[in-house]
Amino acid sequence: MSLDIVILAAGQGTRMRSALPKVLHPVAGNSMLGHVIHSARQLEPQSIHVVIGHGADLVRERLQADDLNFVLQDKQLGTGHAVAQALPELTADTVLILYGDVPLIEVQTLERLLKQVTHSQLGLLTVTLADPTGYGRIVRDGAGNVSAIVEHKDASDAQKAITEGNTGILAVPGKRLAEWLGRLSNNNAQGEYYLTDVIAMAVNDGLVVATEQPLDPMEVQGANDRKQLSELERHYQLREGRRLMAQGVTLRDPARFDVRGEVSVGRDVLIDVNVILEGRVVIEDDVVIGPNCYIKDSTLRKGVVVKANSHLDGAVMGEGSDAGPFARLRPGTVLEARAHVGNFVELKNAHMGEGAKAGHLTYLGDAVIGARTNIGAGTITCNYDGANKHKTVLGEDVFIGSNNSLVAPVDILDGATTAAGSTITQQIPAGQLGVARGRQRNIEGWKRPEKIKK
Ligand code: UD1
Ligand code: CA
Repeated sequence: MSLDIVILAAGQGTRMRSALPKVLHPVAGNSMLGHVIHSARQLEPQSIHVVIGHGADLVRERLQADDLNFVLQDKQLGTGHAVAQALPELTADTVLILYGDVPLIEVQTLERLLKQVTHSQLGLLTVTLADPTGYGRIVRDGAGNVSAIVEHKDASDAQKAITEGNTGILAVPGKRLAEWLGRLSNNNAQGEYYLTDVIAMAVNDGLVVATEQPLDPMEVQGANDRKQLSELERHYQLREGRRLMAQGVTLRDPARFDVRGEVSVGRDVLIDVNVILEGRVVIEDDVVIGPNCYIKDSTLRKGVVVKANSHLDGAVMGEGSDAGPFARLRPGTVLEARAHVGNFVELKNAHMGEGAKAGHLTYLGDAVIGARTNIGAGTITCNYDGANKHKTVLGEDVFIGSNNSLVAPVDILDGATTAAGSTITQQIPAGQLGVARGRQRNIEGWKRPEKIKK
């Protein structure tokens, strides 16, 4: 059965009080519309149409992709009018309507809904709410069959007492849609072309309306203001936390954990509070992440330990390696197995060999560091001459004394040592000691200055 999906995203979202179109506001680091598109794609439709209006140019620019067709709705004359804008493009057996500001809808729920659609039956997603104020109400006949949807503003008091509300999400046989939309009128309380009027038309034409409900009402919750946006965010994060816990992660506090991207985890991972994972993060078995860490687009191999307050972006940490507290691993950082990066150490485009160590207060940029090499506290690679970046290459088993400046380009060969406080500008051959500092002089009989008495 072929499927076309139409996502409505033309509305303004005044209550966000924002220059940004509502559907571009983020939940878990992705725009609300981005989440809906992500779910839509998983249904493998033959086409996805996004109806845009307010902020159309920006929405198109941000989300442009080969598999998306953007349709402009110049004036927002109602949800029925919005779907009608995409009509010329719709050819599939089934058309599914989604909303750009309802980001948490689950693919499984949509699959259940789609199963209901035949040439003589449509699928309507409804939700039963203690307070359905504002929602269209699902009107059922004596036999319990859906006969119509009545919008809140058009509803009688008796209809307002109905607690089953319309989520707006709907799947219909495509062949009938054009005819029904063509018959819509805007003769109602809001002067809009209501998509919901299609339900009564379908029933009059002899079709059956089958209903499904989401497993959790938050799936169909929209965000009209920033308070609702924050509620969606928290719900998403708890859901993500539960998913990871089910896979063998201990979260010290799921309420203080955020995922903004795609995370894969191994077993027996421990994540302390206030950790943010962003982009693509791979975490293997037995990894421990301390409190207050930000980890983006990084891979942590088996047994890695990231200590408190560390910041990782584009890093690969090899098996059993560790970093922090207060480590900063910038893009291009690779730590081989059991390498150690301590506190206040920054690495950028730096490769540390197996068991190499940089324990304290160091900057290593554009550097290759051999296995077992030890970098003393306060070592800086001078990788930038103001115009170009240059490389520092250290062999295996090198010992860099404390407070060194390694002026790139420079090579220090296997087993070499540098004296503390050196400014190294030339190659040091294997096994030799490089000393590059002023020689110490002691002045005999030196008198300290004395305070002048007044
Ligand atoms: C709609 C439903 C209502 C349902 C509720 C659920 C209709 C007539 N009513 O009401 O039954 O309970 O959603 O939240 O469908 N949009 C456009 N173009 C338009 C109008 C709307 O793209 O011309 C988009 C909006 O951006 C929004 C969505 O459609 O994403 C729903 O529009 P909104 O005005 O919020 O509909 P409601 O009045 O809430
Ligand atoms: Ca709404």
